[in-house]
Amino acid sequence: MEIQKVGVVGAGVMGSGIAQAFAVAGYDVIMADIKEEFVAKGLATVQKSLDRMAARDKITAADKDAALARIRTTTTLDPFADRDLMVEAVLEEEELKRTLFRELDVICRGDAILATNTSSISVTKIAAASRRPERVVGMHFFNPVPVMKLVEIIRALQTSDEVCATIDEVSRAIGKTPHTIKDSYGFVVNRVLILMINEAINCLYEGLTEPEEIDAVMRLGANHPMGPLALADLIGLDVVLNIMGTLYDGFDDPKYRPSPLLKQMVDAGYLGRKTGRGFHKYGDA
Ligand code: 3HC
Repeated sequence: MEIQKVGVVGAGVMGSGIAQAFAVAGYDVIMADIKEEFVAKGLATVQKSLDRMAARDKITAADKDAALARIRTTTTLDPFADRDLMVEAVLEEEELKRTLFRELDVICRGDAILATNTSSISVTKIAAASRRPERVVGMHFFNPVPVMKLVEIIRALQTSDEVCATIDEVSRAIGKTPHTIKDSYGFVVNRVLILMINEAINCLYEGLTEPEEIDAVMRLGANHPMGPLALADLIGLDVVLNIMGTLYDGFDDPKYRPSPLLKQMVDAGYLGRKTGRGFHKYGDA
């Protein structure tokens, strides 16, 4: 199946990044969110990222404008009726995603592929909410989407070979490197990465040292581009906690217990970069 028209539901950090990746590669994109202000913020994020790429000669000014012009926005699902591929990037709530997939099932063409960018929820469960489970697949991008090369293709129990092959092809066409993985809570990257971040938070909770030190030793000792606490701030502490919760409940294994400090930070509303404060401070916060 040839993909030409793409729909993205959710204009947050991930959704806008995904819309940008497809638009830069020449695809016709419609990006949706529930409020006009959310889609406007998503478009502004795309604009900023493209400006940054243009300033570093990674894209010409003309290609930047053309990419922006390829993204239309909407606050309803109706315009998705003609899409070949839908990528869902809404909040990490299982029921919200399952409801959305039921709605997309009705609106989208019967042969359209419905992909989810879920970070850890069972794609098999999301697929089961749809009447086309064999055309549901995980397409897991990484933050910041314009920079990160990987797409984890998550093959649900129901996903067809043809759908996995199409997603592999389209991921390469947008300049990503796909790897196909069987569905399981957290897949591979988040199962490993988020557990490491949780352990770094436990080191802080136990008072081993300061946040800056924990980040510095992991940069120097493991050659990570950024320390685990700075990465948690980038991902969002609410998202990190959510993923830990999914791993903990899904595997029913205490090794995935969220750090008490992580819970407290989320309770305090210290969610990382997006709120100006997490394990580090950002902007004027
Ligand atoms: N848009 C466009 N370009 C961007 C960008 C953006 N949003 N963010 C960074 N860049 C570009 C910069 O312009 C720069 O380009 P250059 O190489 O031409 O100079 C390059 O990326 C590197 O950026 P910086 O110089 O600003 O800073 P760093 O060298 O420190 O890199 C980083 C920043 C790419 C974020 C790097 O620190 C990194 O790779 N960190 C780890 C990120 C990571 O692990 N992400 C995965 C999170 S898990 C996830 O997303 C899964 C989800 O389910 C939770």
